[in-house]
Amino acid sequence: MIEPMRTFVLRARAAPVDSGKLLASIGTDAHPEILAHVLMNAIFVAQSHRDDVVVYLVLESTADYSRTLRFEPRAMHELGGFDERALLAKVAKALDTSRGMGKEETRPVEPGVTVQTISFERLVQQLAVDHQLFVLDRKGTPISVQTFADQPCFLLTDHIPMPKKTFGSLERLGATKLSLGPRMLFASQCVVLIHHALDQG
Ligand SMILES: C[S@@+](CC[C@H](N)C(=O)[O-])C[C@H]1O[C@@H](n2cnc3c(N)ncnc32)[C@H](O)[C@@H]1O
Repeated sequence: MIEPMRTFVLRARAAPVDSGKLLASIGTDAHPEILAHVLMNAIFVAQSHRDDVVVYLVLESTADYSRTLRFEPRAMHELGGFDERALLAKVAKALDTSRGMGKEETRPVEPGVTVQTISFERLVQQLAVDHQLFVLDRKGTPISVQTFADQPCFLLTDHIPMPKKTFGSLERLGATKLSLGPRMLFASQCVVLIHHALDQG
């Protein structure tokens, strides 16, 4: 039996894959703090964390390959703090681990955390095999009428929209557009609302 698991993928189009640049760009147009906010809201609850979630961060501001970071809290020994500094330190550590990697390689970073040099498109193709895909879009199906299987996977972006052509390829992979209402929200706020909807059972 497959254990129910929620997966979030943040496509961080403006986030640098160089850890120094990433940390130096907090509060600038690259907005890497979005990564910390998504990790925080996907993983942590008051005085605890969620064991039924996997988070992928795909950092795309790069001269070579995207870096796809995978966080699985139930396998992590050291979750650390939930402040921006602690969370971005985890991201920076994974980016440092990825130095010198070739295309489509995977390296372990620490228990529960891996880094891969695969693109967003490649990652989603892999997830499509055994996940129910949703791409977040204000014009999609309202979350209140959507039914969810055991392995939903939610695709989000940072402040830069998903390229138009991506929607076509996501549709071909079976992704459903999912709406959380008419207001444009932060990705991290979408995560909270999705958790809330799924928590209702
Ligand atoms: C800050 S928004 C992206 C803003 C970007 N300028 C755009 O036009 O897509 C971050 C993520 O949240 C999703 N999102 C924001 N508000 C939403 C809503 N009300 N319903 C569904 N998805 C939403 C977006 O689709 C995107 O994946």
